[in-house]
This record gives sequence, structure tokens and C-alpha cells, in this order.
Amino acid sequence: MRRKLIAGNWKMNTNINSANELVSSIIEKIEGREPKSELLVCPPFTNLSSVNELIKDKNISLGAQNCEYRDSGAYTGEVSVEMLISVGCKYVIIGHSERRQYYGDTDEIINLKIKQVLKHNLTPIFCIGETIEDRNSGNTFKVLENQIRKAYQDIDKNDLSKIVIAYEPVWAIGTGVSATTEQASEAHTWIRNFLNENYGKESSNIRILYGGSMNEKNSFDLLSCPDIDGGLIGGAALKLESFISILNNAETTYKN
Ligand code: 13P
Repeated sequence: MRRKLIAGNWKMNTNINSANELVSSIIEKIEGREPKSELLVCPPFTNLSSVNELIKDKNISLGAQNCEYRDSGAYTGEVSVEMLISVGCKYVIIGHSERRQYYGDTDEIINLKIKQVLKHNLTPIFCIGETIEDRNSGNTFKVLENQIRKAYQDIDKNDLSKIVIAYEPVWAIGTGVSATTEQASEAHTWIRNFLNENYGKESSNIRILYGGSMNEKNSFDLLSCPDIDGGLIGGAALKLESFISILNNAETTYKN
């Protein structure tokens, strides 16, 4: 069975004090527990190092929200995968719709970033998702297919199963309007079948997360869907009680 991944994408929120405070509270809440799900926090770059100090030896993993695809050099303002490794990151979010929309992360750049993350044995969390226009014009699956095909270009089949996919419909991100269980389930099943048909049987191990206004209320139903293997959570991951409720809901979905 795939282990669920409950991931907080903090986006451009928290400073060093509030990040430490939030993660310390999460640690307190899960102290003494061995969750069946994996817990992941993705703070801004500037807080990775201090958060890492706090979560060392705890049941929480660390991820970054982006990276540069080159190794090192004269790339002012960029952060390499090696740098992320040096502060304890195990995951890197790649191709978030906000990066696609505001920072020019094209499918080609996303492909290069995924390769770079895999080269260093970290796990990419590769984001895909349609806009409301795509959905309304019946193009959802065409868009998802295109995003996957381009991002997976020239990646070794053995490496593909290491990628975590996050299905994040753009219209559900930060809007308070999550995809319905039926919409999310349909998309996740489509993604799973597409991967199985095009990239081989190993794809059945790939974790596919749902992201887009996941919260304490809708998470149980979403996380109960057979092809939804966790959540990539924005707003609700910044609220301690909400994030822990989502984790608790994930825990109750296991059938033992
Ligand atoms: P919200 O949970 O705030 O909608 O954000 C989702 C997201 O973009 C996670 O990457």
C-alpha cells in the first residue's frame, strides 16, 4: 500500500520566528506518535536551515518549494539542489502553478528541474493541473497529458516511479473552493491509468497528492479516494489545528 504524504507548502509565508514556532507546535502535537502517513513541511528557503534543526530525528521531512536546474555558478538569486541537500531537504516542489504563472517555469524548465532533483536523489513533487478555462472547455485531461509528457521527457523509467505527482487544479488553489471528491477522484484515476499505460507497471507505486483548498473538513473524503495518496496543502498548513486535523483524517483512512 502507498504511504500517504501530508505536505505543507508554506509558500511565501512565515519568517524565521514564526516558522520555528509553527514547526515546534507540530512536533509537540505528534510527539510520541508514529503516524502511518509521512509528514512534510516546505518552508521558504530562508527558514529551511532552522526548521531542519528542529525536525531532525522527528517524524517530519523537509522540502523546498523550488530549485535551480543548473549545478552552480553565476546565477544570481538562484538556489541549487546541492544547497538544499546541505540544509536537510528530501523533497522539492517543482512546477507549482504559481511558478508557471508568475515566474516563467515552462514545461521544458520543469523537465530540467525534475532531472536535476532526481540526479541528486531527492524527490520531486511535480505539480500539474488545469485552469478553469481548460476544465470548462473539456480539456482537463489533454492539459494533464501534455504537462506529464513534457515533464517526463528523457527521464529514465526507473526514475519516474520516484516522482511524486501533485494534482492541483488551478481554480481550486487558494480559492476556498476545493475540487469535489468526484472531480478529484476522476482526475487521480485518470492520471494513474495514464501513467500505467504509458510508463509501465512501476507507476502503480507513484504517490499522487491532491492540492487545492484542502482543509480539515474536506480532507477525509478526499483522502479516502483510492488514488489520492496525500495532500499538498497551502493555507490550511499554516494553521496548526487544521494541519493536524488533516493528518488525523489521513490516519483514519487506513484500513489496516
Ligand atoms: P491552498 O491549500 O491554499 O489552496 O494551496 C494549495 C497549493 O497550492 C499547495 O501547493
